[in-house]
This record gives sequence, C-alpha cells and structure tokens, in this order.
Amino acid sequence: MGGSGTVHEADQPETKSGAVAWIDARLPVFRWFRAEYVDYRMPRNLNGLWNFGAILCVVLVLMLATGIFLAMNYTPAANAAFASIEVIERQVPAGWLLRALHMTGASLFMAALYVHLFRGLYYGSYKSPREILWLTGLVLLVMTMVTAFAGYVLPWGQMSYWGADVVGKAVGAIPGIGPDLEHVIEGSDALGDIFVHRFFVLHFVMAFAILGVVGLHVWALHVSGSNNPSGVEPAKASDTLPFHPYYSSKDMVGIVLFGIVFAALAFLWPDLLSEPANYRPANPLHTPTDIEPEWYFLPFYGILQSVPSKFGGLVASAGAVLVLFAVPWLDPSPVRSARFRPLCRVALWGLVAAFVLLGLVGRHHAAGVWMIAGRCATLYYFAYFLVLLPFAPRFEKTRPLPTSLS
Ligand code: HEM
Repeated sequence: MGGSGTVHEADQPETKSGAVAWIDARLPVFRWFRAEYVDYRMPRNLNGLWNFGAILCVVLVLMLATGIFLAMNYTPAANAAFASIEVIERQVPAGWLLRALHMTGASLFMAALYVHLFRGLYYGSYKSPREILWLTGLVLLVMTMVTAFAGYVLPWGQMSYWGADVVGKAVGAIPGIGPDLEHVIEGSDALGDIFVHRFFVLHFVMAFAILGVVGLHVWALHVSGSNNPSGVEPAKASDTLPFHPYYSSKDMVGIVLFGIVFAALAFLWPDLLSEPANYRPANPLHTPTDIEPEWYFLPFYGILQSVPSKFGGLVASAGAVLVLFAVPWLDPSPVRSARFRPLCRVALWGLVAAFVLLGLVGRHHAAGVWMIAGRCATLYYFAYFLVLLPFAPRFEKTRPLPTSLS
C-alpha cells in the first residue's frame, strides 16, 4: 500500500497552472509532497498511539529552534557555562522561555519516544517488511540518548559534572581500551573546558544529524506503509484513508493534547522534571550524596547498579538497548499484533513493569531490597527478549485474525 499507490498518483499529469506547475516541471517538490503527505494512504483503523510519530517531529523542530537561540547565548567553557545559563534565565529577553521549552521538550521527547517504541513492540511493527524502519528508529533512540546526555552536561551544574564523571568511569572500566576511550571522551585528565566544549559540539551536531535520520525513518515508513492495531495488512482500497484530511486532522488533535501537557509542565511545574542539584555550579571537590541521571535514563542506571561488576553493569545497560536491534529476528511469530497474542501481551506488560521498576531501582540506589528487585527486573527484561519472544510462539495459541480492516 502507500508507497506504490501514491507513486502511481504522482505520475499522473498535473492540472495545476502557474508557479506551482512551473516549479513542479523542473523540480517536482509539490507533486512529491502531495503524493507523500496528502494522498498517501494509511490504514483506516489507526488509534491515538499512531500520533506519536507526528508529535515527535513537532517536538524535534521545537528543540532545534529553541536550541539555536540558546546556543547564541551559551558559553561552552567550564568557568563560564553555568553563569551563561543564569544570564539566559534572567537577562536574555524570553531566555527563561527558551530554556523552559528546551528542558521540558527534552523530557517529553524521551517520554514520547518510549511510547512510540512501545507501540512498535505491542503491535509488532518491527516485523517484515518494516525491519529497516525499526532499525532507523533505534538509531534515532541511541542518537537521542547521546544528545540528551551531552545537553545535560552543558549547564555545568553539580549533576552535569558528577553524571559525566560516572559515565566516564563506566567507560574507563571497559577492559583494554577503556582508559584510552575515557581520555578521548573527557579530553584531559580532569573534566573541564575541553570536555564542555566537546560536548557542546557533539550536542549541536547530533541534534541536526537526528533530523537527517528522521528523513530516512519516514522514507522507510512510506515504502512499507504504516502497520495498524490489528497487524493485518490492508487488503483493499476501503481498508485505507488518505493522510489528508483524515490523519492530518487526527495528528493535529494529538499534537494539541500533547501541547497542553507540555505547557502545563513548562509553565506550572517547571521543576518537576529537573534535578535541583543541577542549579548548583559544578564542584569537583564536593560529591553530591545522590548522583542521579534524568528520569528517562533511570531504568538503565538501575541495570548498571544491579549488576555486581562495573564493566558487567555497563555491558548490561548498553545491552538493554542493543537487544532491541535484534527484535525483528528474535520474534518468529507470524502474528504481528499483541491483540491476538494473549501470552505475548501479558509478557509485554510485564516488560513495562520491569522497566518502571528498574527506574525506581535507579532512583533508590540498588541496595538491600532494591538490589534484589533490580536483579529480578534485569533478568526479566533480558528473558523477555531472549527467551519469551523466540520461544513463546511454539506454545502460544493466537486468536483468529480479522480478514479485513473495515
Ligand atoms: C526522533 C525520533 C523519532 C521520530 C521523529 C519518529 C517519527 C516517526 C513518524 C512520523 C512515524 C509515522 C507516524 C507513526 O506511526 O507514529 C513513525 C513510525 C514508526 N516509527 Fe518512529 N520516530 C522516531 C523514533 C523511533 C524509534 C525510537 C522507534 C523504535 C524502534 C521507531 C519506530 C517506528 C516504527 C516501527 C514506525 C511504524 C509504526 C507502524 O506503522 O506501526 N521510531 N516514526
């Protein structure tokens, strides 16, 4: 669907006249836009979870726009970064607004990413023919994580410094290349100017690279077409609807609802998602009692802490992301959607519970009962992908699939 049907429409003669026709005859951008974003056909039964791709696109644009203006006023140096953020907050016209939008945007971008990813896992959107779509999505996840981490370093507050210290030491624990790699990342023996400057460049460059990979992601999407809650491919024309006005309007509703949550967090509870310790300038001589990443890294931090060895913890927390790349080949079930897979559906909610539990472990530090919970949740997390997904189809009794979407 989608790709082939719309290409056909794109090849039809244009009836438009004037500037649009003149440009299209030389560079068919309008024709391409019409085929891919107006007439493009989508399954008719998509639910609200299919809004999150559009929401992510909007938040990404907001992040780039606010980021550019923040960068104009930010100083990437260890002794000046914190003060430049204070100037942005207090003196730059609307600087407080730019920063509030950028900080809330970072948190909500990650939240939307997790929902988007979960949707893919739940409805089996990673299965053939959407493997590359899934893989480009995961590349975006990794790039976003790196960008978010690099961004968090920039204010050079206590958490920026000590968070970077924890990550640097974790990298240093890699046998063999670890110490050299740590030195390359940190730039000198002590975290300071070189590190801040490097991470500023990394943050800026990655943000735009993400935009490029989103282009590949959506291209791959338009080749295979969207999956849908039933996981059954549209069989006839009446199973699909054109993107505009049906899904363009539905996406707008999703974006507005998301915008309301966004505005509430940015304007009513600006400190809910941020760490108070980062409003103190970095002090290499004073280790905070609790070193804690932003909420969206907490599950991975929980895994890091639950594994007894430092290197083992690093392998397990990196593995928790890397295992997602293998999912299209780990799950042999011919049925896509968890709606028709009773066992898989329960196991998947178990995965969500384990992920949340790991976040709590990261928050409370893996000691005592939290350590036991962290280890159980880590085991379940990996067992879901490496045992349940590959073997469940052998004894799972799936429910009958619908023959049509309409
Ligand atoms: C910068 C981050 C991302 C952006 C801007 C983005 C954007 C989009 C958009 C616009 C869509 C189409 C609308 C929709 O289905 O929601 C989409 C679909 C999809 N994305 Fe992403 N995405 C991102 C990250 C990810 C990640 C991390 C994954 C997970 C691996 C992923 C996997 C998918 C899949 C599987 C689909 C097709 C889903 C289906 O039709 O069932 N994306 N994405």
